[in-house]
Amino acid sequence: MTLNPDQLAGYVRDGFLLLENFVDKQACDCLRARAAELVRDFDPRGLVSIFSTQEQSRTSDEYFLGSGDRIRFFFEENAFHSDGTLGQSKEQSINKIGHALHDLDPVFDKFSRIPEIQQLVSDLGIDDPLLLQSMYIFKQPRIGGEVTCHQDATFLYAEPLRLVGLWFALEDATIDNGCLWVMPGGHKLGLKSRFVRAEDGTRFEVIDDAQWPEGKLQPLEVKKGTVIVLHGLLPHLSRENRSPRSRHAYTLHVIDASALYSKDNWLQRSEEMPLRGF
Ligand code: FE2
Repeated sequence: MTLNPDQLAGYVRDGFLLLENFVDKQACDCLRARAAELVRDFDPRGLVSIFSTQEQSRTSDEYFLGSGDRIRFFFEENAFHSDGTLGQSKEQSINKIGHALHDLDPVFDKFSRIPEIQQLVSDLGIDDPLLLQSMYIFKQPRIGGEVTCHQDATFLYAEPLRLVGLWFALEDATIDNGCLWVMPGGHKLGLKSRFVRAEDGTRFEVIDDAQWPEGKLQPLEVKKGTVIVLHGLLPHLSRENRSPRSRHAYTLHVIDASALYSKDNWLQRSEEMPLRGF
């Protein structure tokens, strides 16, 4: 077991868990270097796919919808001048890479399937794990966009809801550079909405329109190498990064094969590339 009974009880109670020094510094740097190579080799010409959870226009973006079984690049919303040109280098303009790094890139594949992660997922009660989604998030200096309060299950719904998110800090994350904020115990509030495919793209299906009690959010300032475990129903957000420092993170979402992954979830895969475990 990676987790002791207190840690497991804390996860059940709070809906999240912090494990410091879970990833060694060299492994963090290795992922950072690989992400830099991927960005270097990415040709952004002709593509203006602005990612923001506030930006509804993304919902009709085929590039986004087709990224479930590919490696695709999404820009910060504030990366562009009004004339459509980049306000900073390509390297400093990418918001994230998603959503199948863990299956398609050898470096991220290897990292995502290390025994320590497999054991952690097992300890969390995911008996028959499938690696569903991965993202490399840059949270760029000065223009790193806000991610509003949400539950990951809104985007990755399954019945029963056996979904765990792993958030690996590849750099120190502070309030200043846009660390995660979580709502302890908020995973017991129930699912508020679902983000599903629709004929003309996607839409949010509201289940409960009550406001989040956002006063209960607390920041998780963590050191490089920390993993934050997130219950699929835990409300969380991250604020803008206006600081001169980036806040790189790698995230991995795992579901249990026994759960029925909804066919109307936005993230889908082609039959040629089924989900894999460890
Ligand atoms: Fe999230």
